[in-house]
Amino acid sequence: MGVDYYPEHWERTMWEQDANLMRETGVSLVRVAEFAWSRLEPEEGGYDFSWLDDAIDVFDRQGIKVVIGTPTCTPPNWLVNRFPDVLPVDAVLHPRYPGIRGHRCYNSPSMRLYAERIVEKLARHYSNHPAVIGWQVDNEFSLNECHCESCNKQFRRWLSNKYGSLDAINEAWGTVVWSGEYSSWDQITTPLGGTAYKNPSYLLDYKRFETDSVVEFQQLQVNILRRYCPEHFVTHNIWSYPMSLDYYKLCETLDFASLDYYPNTSPEKAVSSGYSGALTLDLTRGIKRSPFWIMETISGPPGCWFPMWRTPHPGLIRAYAWQCISRGADALVHFRWRSAPIGAEQFWHGLIDHSNVPGRRFEEYRVLCEEVNRLSEVLGGSVVLSEAAVLHSHDLYNAFGIQPQVEGMHYFDHLKLYHRALTKLGIVADVVNMTEDLGGYRMIIAPSLFLTDQSLADHLETCVKNGATLILTARSGVKNMNNVCWMSPLPGPLADVAGTTVAEYDPVGNDIHAIRTKSGKTYSCSQWCDILEPAGAETIAWYEDDFFAGKAAATVRELGKGKVYYLGTIAEESFYLDLFREVVREAGVNRLPGLPEGVQISVRSKGTTLYMFIMNLTRKRQIVSIGGEFSSLLLRKTVGPELDLDPYGVEIVKMEQ
Ligand code: GLA
Ligand code: ZN
Repeated sequence: MGVDYYPEHWERTMWEQDANLMRETGVSLVRVAEFAWSRLEPEEGGYDFSWLDDAIDVFDRQGIKVVIGTPTCTPPNWLVNRFPDVLPVDAVLHPRYPGIRGHRCYNSPSMRLYAERIVEKLARHYSNHPAVIGWQVDNEFSLNECHCESCNKQFRRWLSNKYGSLDAINEAWGTVVWSGEYSSWDQITTPLGGTAYKNPSYLLDYKRFETDSVVEFQQLQVNILRRYCPEHFVTHNIWSYPMSLDYYKLCETLDFASLDYYPNTSPEKAVSSGYSGALTLDLTRGIKRSPFWIMETISGPPGCWFPMWRTPHPGLIRAYAWQCISRGADALVHFRWRSAPIGAEQFWHGLIDHSNVPGRRFEEYRVLCEEVNRLSEVLGGSVVLSEAAVLHSHDLYNAFGIQPQVEGMHYFDHLKLYHRALTKLGIVADVVNMTEDLGGYRMIIAPSLFLTDQSLADHLETCVKNGATLILTARSGVKNMNNVCWMSPLPGPLADVAGTTVAEYDPVGNDIHAIRTKSGKTYSCSQWCDILEPAGAETIAWYEDDFFAGKAAATVRELGKGKVYYLGTIAEESFYLDLFREVVREAGVNRLPGLPEGVQISVRSKGTTLYMFIMNLTRKRQIVSIGGEFSSLLLRKTVGPELDLDPYGVEIVKMEQ
């Protein structure tokens, strides 16, 4: 259990009191310094770490470990002033001014130089400090979409590395359209003007270049930290989803991924927030396919540059913390210990309010610390048991962002839709990069593989032949990885595997249509209607209306030991609940019968022991049947077969396999 703490914001006398109260509460970890550049290097080359030494010593005396954030998200004024090339430049060539944060171009030579210098100083200074255990690089990286001179130069270099020649670029992007062919390298710029009319292949490559710029900028720091602090871990706190920056690449050389997790506190969002949160956590676990950290999470009402949200309902802070652990978090760092009386985030509340009187939320946090600390040995080393894979890709997200397919259709919403249906059925899925090895999964859901190459199609085919059930959906196999359309019947390279092709499609957008399944049930659908022509597959749903009434909307086929579904439209949720229920029954995937809306379960396993977490992420009392009597880790007694969960109530039961 940890907290985010900013010693530079408080009087020193407070550090002692805070560290003392942290220890009493059960906090064993703090993250410090990630925005403190102007205090760590008040003037060029004039480093002053003495205050941070003192603060870290205060924590050390209380047995609290420290994660240091490198301060590169906030270049100080002297640096910006002296080297304005530090500032990112937007598509109409306006600089992003300092005063907030994130005002740093990843390709700026001055930024890189001064970042390396301060990180090296910090790394050398703290490499042997007994309290320091690891590093967070920068803060919540995202793509800058920078158009400065350095970025332009680097973009051309990146393209020349990738394609080798201008001819190859012209060919890959199809620049012949609208006379966009390049005849010399200096004609290539970043997408100035920022319009959506530009060549989609070029725009997608620019996004990839931007990811690589962040990765390189981070790697400069990682290299230094590895050199001087081989015993320490290195991580980065990612900012949620959906995201253009490719987190898979970003985290490749890190020890583990960390997530900043802020569930929505509003009553109307109470249920949906739990489901989208579950997706975010499963995505984060999928980044490195291993446990992760929560580096920031909710402690009070968020607000500041927007009007405040509701305060976390009693139990919410604790329940969401257990949700994180249940889905793979191995550490929880709450943002933040105290609410700031100064600066831009005065009303992004911490565990302790401005009143300086620890209140209701603090008490809940204290109980949480007590529980987590008591169970950490038992749960430590356990891993999340997942039974299905959902495929995700930042490339797909970006490609759909560049060319929205139809009104109301959003790639990330599809992930939410399918993942929510699984979660409601009590199935935990790994949400992983579509390029991952998927061997071993019995159920693979592949939402809209818009960009597909032959190797992805081949890999999926192998998984199916070995026994997986694969679910493909509309807008798959449309383009190659260069964002150029395949000229073959949809779903392009996936047509053979699907055993069906798309004769015609209607981007119906927000118009509501209907499908009828074999069982005679009807469901509404919208966004997209692929009119299918089965070639070996069997039809399982037909359109009910419009000129394509009676035509196939969804198919299934057997292939080797597995099955492939192709869903040509986006249906209402109950369609997926019904379909997935059938698929998991056939695939032999475990699940709990009937979870109430907003109640989630997840299982972590260790050896032959299973720990099942049951979380009521709603404002209502809920009754859940867990199918037997088990011993409760929290209550230290036998519970079940029915659980009576308070609003935001949590239960953890132990089962033997
Ligand atoms: C992000 C940042 C924090 C803080 C919080 C709350 O997650 O990493 O520094 O700004 O949001 O706004
Ligand atoms: Zn730049």
